[in-house]
Amino acid sequence: MGRISIHKLTEWKQEGHRFAMLTAYDFAMARLVEQAGAPVILVGDSLGTVMLGHESTVPVTMDDMLHHTKAVVRGTERSLVIADMPFMSYQANADEAVANAGRLLQAGAGAIKLEGGSEIAPLVRRMVATGIPVMGHLGLTPQSVNQFGGHKVQGKTPAAAAKIIGDARALEEAGAFALVLETVPAPLAKMVTERVTVPTIGIGAGPDCDGQVQVLHDILGLFDDQRKFRHTKRYAELGEIVRQAIRDYVSEVEVGDFPTERESFPMTEETLSELRQGAHA
Ligand code: KIV
Repeated sequence: MGRISIHKLTEWKQEGHRFAMLTAYDFAMARLVEQAGAPVILVGDSLGTVMLGHESTVPVTMDDMLHHTKAVVRGTERSLVIADMPFMSYQANADEAVANAGRLLQAGAGAIKLEGGSEIAPLVRRMVATGIPVMGHLGLTPQSVNQFGGHKVQGKTPAAAAKIIGDARALEEAGAFALVLETVPAPLAKMVTERVTVPTIGIGAGPDCDGQVQVLHDILGLFDDQRKFRHTKRYAELGEIVRQAIRDYVSEVEVGDFPTERESFPMTEETLSELRQGAHA
């Protein structure tokens, strides 16, 4: 069995089969995400915030994306791995954009994702013609957070909503195989989902998209003191579980309860007594 293909996602839309996409950025987590049944893994440029500690996705580089994409690919066999193109890896120059997308595919990704609407449709068309599967990303596109002035719901006015619908159509026509819709009103996401033939994948876009995507660290509760988004549901409180495990380890080391005989390696009495007699000194 190979990896899930981009065509499977279209089939799922036609069959009304909803699917989950989840981010992963490293080998260990990618394995767990795949083992738990997520068919699509996004190596999101959100790694800039949750893995590298930046304030936004803007500082993420191609080298960051390549490094993490390779680790996720090594950790998975079946999931479709999609890599984000980071800020300024595709905006300035189309030749450079195609070459950068190619590098992500050579790193093992099955597709790339880029942010933007009808203005990037010619680039999407060219990438698709080159053999690069492209996922679009509309609504609150985090690389433009400085322009939006924060994480605000997009598409709230009739004109802004109509622009998102037009952008979705333009990306579909250009050959994008799926569209992420981020932080837009649920009825607008429903409308887009009904009007395009490619699957929509929502995050903060209500229940009517064909699929849903979340940032892994958010659903696991790894950041329990920040990153509180209305669109996220925490399925675990791993932050506290991890802290408690580490507290236990630290205190067991301090009082001498770890390691015990069980975690130590013995030596035979014979070897020990030879050593004590200094035969090998
Ligand atoms: O970078 C990312 O994780 C994303 C998702 C939020 C869609 O783009």
